[in-house]
Amino acid sequence: MTSLPHSITRHSGHISRATRERLTGQRALTLWMTGLSASGKSTTAFMLEAHLIARGRLCAVLDGDNLRHGINQNLGFSPDDRRENIRRVAEIARLMNDAGLFIIVSLISPLQADRDMARAIIGANRFLEILISAPLAVCENRDPKHLYAKARAGEIPDFTGISAPYEAPRAPDCVLDTTRLTPDEAAASLETLIQSHQKG
Ligand SMILES: Nc1ncnc2c1ncn2[C@@H]1O[C@H](COP(=O)(O)OP(=O)(O)OP(=O)(O)O)[C@@H](O)[C@H]1O
Ligand SMILES: [Mg+2]
Repeated sequence: MTSLPHSITRHSGHISRATRERLTGQRALTLWMTGLSASGKSTTAFMLEAHLIARGRLCAVLDGDNLRHGINQNLGFSPDDRRENIRRVAEIARLMNDAGLFIIVSLISPLQADRDMARAIIGANRFLEILISAPLAVCENRDPKHLYAKARAGEIPDFTGISAPYEAPRAPDCVLDTTRLTPDEAAASLETLIQSHQKG
C-alpha cells in the first residue's frame, strides 16, 4: 500500500449510512463471486441482478471481463496485475456500497489472500464470499469462450486451473454448485442469503 501525500485530507459528507439506508430501504452488501472460468459467475451474477431489480432493489454487477474493457484494460494476468485488478474492483464496490447499492462481483479472484484484501477494503460486515462451484472438467467441457482449449494448447499463459492456481474459499458464506442448480435457483438462494443479512 502506497502512503498518501500530506496534502490529502478526507472531507466528510453530511449523510450517514443510516440515513441512506432509510432512503434506499436496504442495507448495502457486496456479494463477491469467485470460481473457475466457466463455473457460472457471470450468468449467476446477472440473473441475481435481474431478480433484485424485479424486487425494486438497487444493485449493480461488477464483472471481471467487462471491467477489463475499461478501468482495468491496462492489466494482465500476472499475480501482481490480478491483485491490482481485485483491489480496484474492491474499491469500486466499496464506493458503490457507500452509495447504497448491492454490488455483485463476478471475478475469478483465484487467491484467498487477494479475496481477503477485498474483504478488508469493503468491510467484513458487508462482504459475502460466494463460491460458484463446478469441477474443472465440467468447466473445461462448457468452455463457452474456448479459453480452456487455448490454454491447453499453450496459447494462454497463467490460465486459472490449468497453468495458474485456484484456491477455493476457506470459509465461504455460500457455495453454489452450478452442475445442480439452474441460474434461477442459484439467484434465488442468493436472494435468501441477502435477506438474512438485512438486519444488524
Ligand atoms: N447454473 C448453471 N447451470 C448450468 N449451466 C450454467 C449455469 N451457470 C452457468 N452455466 C453455463 O456455464 C457457462 C459459463 O458461464 P459463465 O460465462 O457465467 O462463467 P464465468 O464463471 O463467468 O466464466 P469467466 O470467468 O470465464 O467469465 C455458460 O455456458 C453457462 O451457460
Ligand atoms: Mg464471466
